[in-house]
Amino acid sequence: MNNMFINTGYKNILPFVRLGVLILPILLLLYSCQEKRSETDRKIDELMSKMTLDEKIGQMTQICFSTITHDGTKSLKLHPDSFRSAVINHHVGSFLSGTGSAREWIVFINEMQKIAVEESRLGIPLLIGIDHIHGANYVNEGTFLPHNLTLSCSFDTLLVSKCAEITAIETIGLGINWNFSPVLDLGKNPYWPRLYETYGEDPLVCGKLGSAYIKTMQKINIKNYSRLAACGKHFIGYSDPKSGWDRTPAEIPGQILYEQHIVPFEMGIDAGVESIMINSGEVNGIPVHTSKQLLTHVLQKQLGFEGIIITDIKDIMKVVEMHSGAKNEKEATLMAIEAGVDVSMACNSYDFIRYVRELIKEGNITEERIDHSVKKVLKLKYKLGLFEQTYMKEHYDTVYRKQTHLQIAQKAAGESIVLLKNTGILPLKDFNGTILLTGFASNSKRLLNGSWTLEWQGAEERRQPRDMYTLKTALAEEFPGSQIIHFINDTITTDKKRQFRAMARQCDVIVVTAGEELYSEFKGNIPNLKLDKTQQDWLKMTINADKPVVLILIEGRPRIITGLEKDMKAIIFAGYPGVMGANAIAGILSGRINPSGKLSFTYPRHVHHNVPYYHKISEEYIPLYPFGHGLSYSTFKYNHLQMNDTLIKHKREKIDVSVEVSNTGSIEGKETVLWYISDLTGRITRPVKKLAHFEKKHIKPGEKVLFNFTIIPEQHLTYPNRHGNKILENGKFVLRVGPYEKCFVMDLEDTSTY
Ligand code: BGC
Repeated sequence: MNNMFINTGYKNILPFVRLGVLILPILLLLYSCQEKRSETDRKIDELMSKMTLDEKIGQMTQICFSTITHDGTKSLKLHPDSFRSAVINHHVGSFLSGTGSAREWIVFINEMQKIAVEESRLGIPLLIGIDHIHGANYVNEGTFLPHNLTLSCSFDTLLVSKCAEITAIETIGLGINWNFSPVLDLGKNPYWPRLYETYGEDPLVCGKLGSAYIKTMQKINIKNYSRLAACGKHFIGYSDPKSGWDRTPAEIPGQILYEQHIVPFEMGIDAGVESIMINSGEVNGIPVHTSKQLLTHVLQKQLGFEGIIITDIKDIMKVVEMHSGAKNEKEATLMAIEAGVDVSMACNSYDFIRYVRELIKEGNITEERIDHSVKKVLKLKYKLGLFEQTYMKEHYDTVYRKQTHLQIAQKAAGESIVLLKNTGILPLKDFNGTILLTGFASNSKRLLNGSWTLEWQGAEERRQPRDMYTLKTALAEEFPGSQIIHFINDTITTDKKRQFRAMARQCDVIVVTAGEELYSEFKGNIPNLKLDKTQQDWLKMTINADKPVVLILIEGRPRIITGLEKDMKAIIFAGYPGVMGANAIAGILSGRINPSGKLSFTYPRHVHHNVPYYHKISEEYIPLYPFGHGLSYSTFKYNHLQMNDTLIKHKREKIDVSVEVSNTGSIEGKETVLWYISDLTGRITRPVKKLAHFEKKHIKPGEKVLFNFTIIPEQHLTYPNRHGNKILENGKFVLRVGPYEKCFVMDLEDTSTY
């Protein structure tokens, strides 16, 4: 009896002991995190208690390298006096933008940090910013990856993470700790000259790829180095100006802002993005830099963003000069700070510092408001480990463009490039005939790497990586048994045409490149999306040669090729595929790589008919190639679309769906399954369909692979109103995947907003 009692008592407490064993380490961990957090907070408070007002304002200021270098450019030759003036006299806490070799970077940044830490009164290390938006694109030795628009056609979050990882590894070693990437703007206006910097037109794709990038980039931790902060840009509405031109006004209804543009930022914030850059333009008549509604109410309060809000370059001044939104820069400074700006990318002027000081003295800005921003900046410096790891080793440069990084670069290009059309001519397997290669990008590295490569507008040919292939050299290596003849792109004359015809007579296939010269930002404003006349003429010349033509599009946005496309035997969209782009294109031509990219944007048919795939029912969708289009050398068959239920009666109910995809071709390949949901009626009219989930998997020939998706009402069946509140409406929905669709119904008793 006694024993039984003891035993039972022991058994009674056993679950608690087990629970304790499980919970204790978690509690200890939480406690130590808490400790650590408060320790950092204590350090920040202590540091701030010693700071003068000027020292605080300096932390809110970012200055361009061009202000502190010898020749006033982005070169990495420090002008110590100018730099001391910035750091010692103006107390600047952050700098940005240079270009050069890895070694120059390391020496330059170490020199800056040394002066900041050893000579400034409080020894606060510096934030150093860069736009490494497609790999480490401002380092001579960097691995230049495909630009985001190309990369997003891979629909592969793991691949994007890999790209973020190698970008981080190649950036951290230089001493750079702040990367102004990724662009989270929605690429839905093909005229916008920054389309190629986006992850395409779909909010979910932008959000998922962007947050995969952010998570990986910020988590890479290399022993003895500080970490890297990402920056989601450009909040909000930058990518859809009415005119299509850079930094011109956008008119976007609140409901569309929430349903489309805000989504990737929200996901980026959930992924922990440390900073957000503001849209230079105006939205609905208000320059975003002065919009308290967008920067404080929406970004901070509603979306819960607690990181640094940084202006775009010289943008407080642009409130006056570009928008006439304030009578002078001092007033614009006040408006921007009231709106929520923490750091001004002032670039080459110290006026921001002067104005903030005056505004505080005059009682227009409180010191608490300044402390709020300074605390964020110092917190980031602590979080990144800058106080512990301020200097870089001089021999880090061995990690650049190493074999494994180049392999990722080729994989990224190979899985992103989209085969738009194939009449059966591709792949040129075991081909041993003659290829006539021509077109504007046929022997260029510059055009494959795109803009933002060593220079803002893209560096000239001689600065491009020595070992990089052009299409000409890549084809020669890919097709060792064939003859590659190259016809240099030039002005078309009657004589040229004759020469071309003569050369074409000797060939079996013509490979021609067409697309766009390089541009970034406003330099890419164009009045007409049509392919340039000279390029059209070049394409016509190849078509008239009466040989099969394969067209490769090297471009930052879909330039209209309607009319010409019908005469092509195959068309490939390569975008800006990066340092291994030529190898990837050659691999796709030969069949070494089975293409698996799908369009993350709509390829328009007509110059002024730019309608995304999630258009309204009253609009017509008549693209040349739709969103999600992309061919493979395998064939994939969708079967057995299954749903475990077709009725949702409670908010918390979910529907599990699956589809089986089999590879019915003869080679292995990858398929991206795109799950769409259509809400058939809505008080606010609904898009005809919306991507709800996507996944890419590898499938062997003959193999059947199951793709799953769970429909969650709050996530997939609601939509926001103009205040961002979620609306849930009963009714009929359609799930679409591949060629199939199935209806389901939501019939809740309580549909009050979330
Ligand atoms: C661009 C930003 C970029 C900044 C710093 C601006 O012109 O709009 O995207 O981060 O320059 O280089």
